[in-house]
Parts: sequence; C-alpha cells; structure tokens
Amino acid sequence: MDNIIEMQAITKRFGPVIANREVNFSLRQGEVHALLGENGAGKTTLMRILYGLYHPDEGMIFVRQQAVRIHSPKDAIALGIGMVTQHFALVPTLSVAENVVLGFTGSFRLRYAEIEEQVAAAALRFGIDIDPSAIVGNLSVGQRQRVEILKALYRNAKVLILDEPTAVLTPQEVDALFETLRRLQKEGLSVVFITHKLDEVMAITDRVTVLRDGQVIETVETAHTSPSALARMMVGRETFGVSRRSSMEAGAPALQMVGLHALDDQNMPALKNINLTVRHGEILGIAGVGGNGQRELAETLSGVRPPTAGRILVGEHDVTGGSPADFTAAGVGRIPSDRHKGVVGELSVAENLTLERLMEFTKGMTLDRAAMLAYAEDLIAQFQIKARPTDPIRTLSGGNMQKVLLARVLARNPKVVIAPQPTRGLDIGATDYVREQLLAQRKRGAGVLLISEDLDEILALSDRIAVIYEGEIVGLLPAQEATAEQLGLMMAGAVKEEVNDV
Ligand SMILES: Nc1ncnc2c1ncn2[C@@H]1O[C@H](COP(=O)(O)OP(=O)(O)O)[C@@H](O)[C@H]1O
Ligand SMILES: [Mg+2]
Repeated sequence: MDNIIEMQAITKRFGPVIANREVNFSLRQGEVHALLGENGAGKTTLMRILYGLYHPDEGMIFVRQQAVRIHSPKDAIALGIGMVTQHFALVPTLSVAENVVLGFTGSFRLRYAEIEEQVAAAALRFGIDIDPSAIVGNLSVGQRQRVEILKALYRNAKVLILDEPTAVLTPQEVDALFETLRRLQKEGLSVVFITHKLDEVMAITDRVTVLRDGQVIETVETAHTSPSALARMMVGRETFGVSRRSSMEAGAPALQMVGLHALDDQNMPALKNINLTVRHGEILGIAGVGGNGQRELAETLSGVRPPTAGRILVGEHDVTGGSPADFTAAGVGRIPSDRHKGVVGELSVAENLTLERLMEFTKGMTLDRAAMLAYAEDLIAQFQIKARPTDPIRTLSGGNMQKVLLARVLARNPKVVIAPQPTRGLDIGATDYVREQLLAQRKRGAGVLLISEDLDEILALSDRIAVIYEGEIVGLLPAQEATAEQLGLMMAGAVKEEVNDV
C-alpha cells in the first residue's frame, strides 16, 4: 500500500527538552492511524511539524513520495493536509458556512446562498450533521468540532489530523465522530487520530504508533494487538486500572447543597438550584461536558465563590458565605484543579506542604524550620513523593506536584474532599495513584465529591453519579445502574430529571 505521508528521523528540541527523537512515522492512504502516548510523549509536536506549525531540527518529510518542506499551515493545506487542534479558531458571530469558507473563497467571490449550498453538500457527502446557516456562537463544543473538520475537508484535505478530538465530546458525539471517520476512510482519506485512550484506538483505527518520551516504541496493526499490550508500550510496564471494588454503606450527610445558586465570572447564572448530599463513605461523581458549571461548583463549595442563594452545610454546620479558611476549618479539603495555581512555584516542597498551617510551625516570631522539614519528610514518605523537602516545587513533574497537593489537603483528614478534575493531564501511573488516594479517603469515611469530565473515571470510582448540564443537576443515579449511553444523553441535555437529594 502506498504511503501518502512519510516522516523520517524527525527530531525536535525545545531548549533542553527533546520532544521528538528520530521519529519515523508513515501514513497509508485510506487508513485511520492512532498516535498513542501519555501526556508529554510528543504526539502534538510531531503533528504540528507535519502541519507546518513547528519546524523539525532534523529529519525529512515526504508527501506522496516527494520530499517537501512545510513552512506553514498554508503549505500543509496546499499539500492536502488539514489539522483540527484542541483549540478551535472559529468566529462565533459568523455562520457555519461562513466559517468554513473563511479565507478560502478561491479566485472568485461566491454569493452567500452558493456558499451555504456548497457547505451543505460537503456536510452531506461526509455524513457530518450540521446546519450551515447556524451561528457558530450558538453551537456546542461537539458541533464546533464538526465545523473545524468540515473546514479542513472543504480545503480538500486528503490527510486529516485530529488532536485528542474526543476529549470534549459526549459518548454519542464520539459515536457520530467515528461514523464520520469511517465515511472519510471510504472516500480514501487518511486520518491521524491522536489519543491516549486505548478503547478508542481499538474501536476506530487500523494501525497504531506508540510514542513514549518522544520516541517511537512501535507501530502495529490494531487487529494484532490488545489494550494491555498497548498500555505496556505506552507506559513501559504493566498497569492496573483502579476502580471502586466494593459497595459501602454510606453514612450521614457530610456535605449538603440546598437550593444552591451561583454566578460565573461574567455574572451569568452558573449554578441553578442544586440540591445534593454527599454522604460519609461515598464518592459522589459529578459527570458533565466541561464548562457546564463544574468550576463554579468546586469554587462555591470551598468558599472561593459566594453563592447567590441557597445553603451549604458541612455536617450540621452551616458554612454559607464563609471564607476559604472557614471551609477548611469546617473540614472541607479541596484539591486544586489547576496544579500550577495550587502551588507557589518559587517555594520549596516543604514550604508548599505547610503553606496553610505555618502557624503550627512558628515558635514566637520564628519559623521552626527543623520541624517543618521533619513534617515534610513524613508526608513525602507517606505519599510517595519523588522529591526532597528543599527542592523548588516548580522542578517537580506534574504527577509529583499533584502528590504534594494531595498530601497538603489530605494530611488534615478532611471530612469532605472536593476533587475537581483530579487526574487531568496526569500519566497513567500518577492517575492510578490519585484514584487510590480518593478511594482511601472514602474508606476512611470522608465524603468525596469527584467532579470529572472523564466519564470512565466517574464510572470507575463513584458510588452515585449526578450529571450537570448548564448549571443544573439533570440526573442522579447509583453507579451500578448507570450506563455511558444514558449518562451521555443527560450530559447533552437530551434527558432531564428533577433532582432533589436533600
Ligand atoms: N512550544 C513548546 N515549548 C517548549 N516545550 C514544548 C513545546 N511544545 C511541547 N513541548 C514539550 O515537548 C514535550 C512533548 O509535548 P507534546 O508534543 O505536547 O506531547 P503530547 O501531545 O504527547 O502530550 C513535552 O515535554 C512538552 O512540555
Ligand atoms: Mg498533545
């Protein structure tokens, strides 16, 4: 079979970091080829090179057996290469059709009606369900992604690169995307599908190239491999998925949200009449597509964002309107969702671990450094943090930084743990570790609120699952009864139930 793309011995450095190291990658005409690897493996870099956004330090690129130099996306598009990145570049005030043709009207100007017709025809041909006259600003994230794909196809892409396209989709939208990819394949297009999800690789791809630490580990036929073999290649060792093993008897209410309302940063309603109870000894999962009030919920429940109505109870204690310190004192521990904002980069590991309890290490007017270091050593051992107490925290990997944050919060044995996106951006090993810690908190009897956009994570860990959609809880069910399909319908707002769980 002919290779439409060949990348040979590609090396790309960013200062001291070698993002791609002598990478060989080939794409056959008509195949869906997964680029699989953990965060930081070099997937995006390699494809940004193919799309002309980065220039390789070494190596050669061939398109249809011709050596090429790709200086910019414009060059890439001229060669029939299109890329849909994780950040869309659409104009919200324009229609779908206008966005698709924007910057590509050819040598003559088209009338608007013709543009819409052309775009509708392209959508039909590739099985993309989108209304060409819809205003992009009114579309869901999944629909915007379709516009980006259509935009690439309209520019006659023969090679389509998708960078973690499913990260922003509901399960139903993932099915629709896979349907589109099969259509593209039938039309003879080739697709590079960047992902770190093994089930997606198994479901949709013909071949897989596994990257680890910037290097190709192997390229294999999907039919000749297995999820566990791929996981081994990806992380270099066996992995064990962590999940809730037994059901537990849930206890008394640990945290209650009663008729809770809050606004977002634009003063628009972000949380609408939320009535939920997190019990001692349970993990309550909040599922939802990103941007539906998750951030505001976590902030409201830790005293960072004041509610505009309703009450928050920690046990019997009403903390409504309290400061973050009041929430902490009442027994709420929040794991920061943005690791880098959760730590003070210039301070040491020990200082970051003791940040919120400096008073305890103060004798008279001076800080008891020896006690602080001893305390840090303890937590470093207990939480298996790979660092010394005096290391500046900014030198730690994402996984180890997250361990510091967990240690800081969990060392207090909080009654309630708020965990927004606790494993986002972590590799498999660190993800397993964080999940184990959350399960240990549940076992200890804490009430855990797990807010995650990763439905697999929600299903693996939660005792009960609530779904948030446009700031409302639109469903609540025991995890044993939940299916991805049903949750997906709720996440898309297609199915709504009144939820009052207080
Ligand atoms: N523009 C950049 N500047 C500096 N370092 C970068 C840049 N882009 C990527 N890197 C680094 O290169 C490595 C590979 O990153 P990336 O290609 O984004 O990985 P992946 O997409 O597999 O998660 C990482 O260590 C990342 O921090
Ligand atoms: Mg990437």
